[in-house]
Amino acid sequence: MVVERKPLISGNWKMHMNHLEAIQLIQKLSYALEAADYASTDVSIHPPFTNLRSAQTVLDADKIPIALGAQHCHWEDKGALTGEVSASMLAKLAVRYVIAGHSERRQLFGDSDEDVNSRLKAILIAGMTPIMCCGETLEERRNQQAEARIAFQVEHGLAGIKREQVANMVIAYEPVWAIGTGQTATPSDAQVGCAVVRNKVRELFGALAADGVRIQYGGSVKPINIAELMAQPDIDGALVGGASLEAESFSRIVRFRLQ
Ligand code: 13P
Repeated sequence: MVVERKPLISGNWKMHMNHLEAIQLIQKLSYALEAADYASTDVSIHPPFTNLRSAQTVLDADKIPIALGAQHCHWEDKGALTGEVSASMLAKLAVRYVIAGHSERRQLFGDSDEDVNSRLKAILIAGMTPIMCCGETLEERRNQQAEARIAFQVEHGLAGIKREQVANMVIAYEPVWAIGTGQTATPSDAQVGCAVVRNKVRELFGALAADGVRIQYGGSVKPINIAELMAQPDIDGALVGGASLEAESFSRIVRFRLQ
């Protein structure tokens, strides 16, 4: 049986764009995309925290159906945690999706699978949708440990989450070696990684969760490779870094059916 899942294309801006540049980019995106694009594909943007309020205001004022996303959050609701931002603060800004466990957070800021799991729970309690990232390093891939690594991250990241919540969330498979390197996984490599994610979800949470969860591929996604990636049965969207910083390339990725 073929299960239909609405694609989700997300732009992870990382540490790029001040709030004025963010407003400009959102306006350009709104000119480039049409109602039919949003009808067939969900779109989210994930600017830095400092831009969220401005982005929310523009999206709201111009009624642009792009969902607002964040890149990270802390699991505590409030406290003496200098520099951190809580899930409930993001929810108050109409943020819909929050990335958790991006490989840059794991590698550069020491995010463990337990931390990712705590973030997920906080995001869900605040009524938002997590985008949990997973993916192997080049070394793990060379040592034939990719599948085990992905399955481990999925199992530990999702520990204690209810199956209905898993069915409605998003998991991004982002092989670390493909991020920002221009080296995209081949469509079949990307499909294999996404299938590992879905099979692990099926094993742990059952068929409804596995059929519902949307799995994105991330790592050097560009207008030129998006169509082939989206043609894979277990790829339901993309988490786009560099190519999401320009309206032209990001809108072409959103319109992958026309590529
Ligand atoms: P690039 O698209 O720049 O490779 O980044 C991918 C990524 O990390 C998205 O979260």
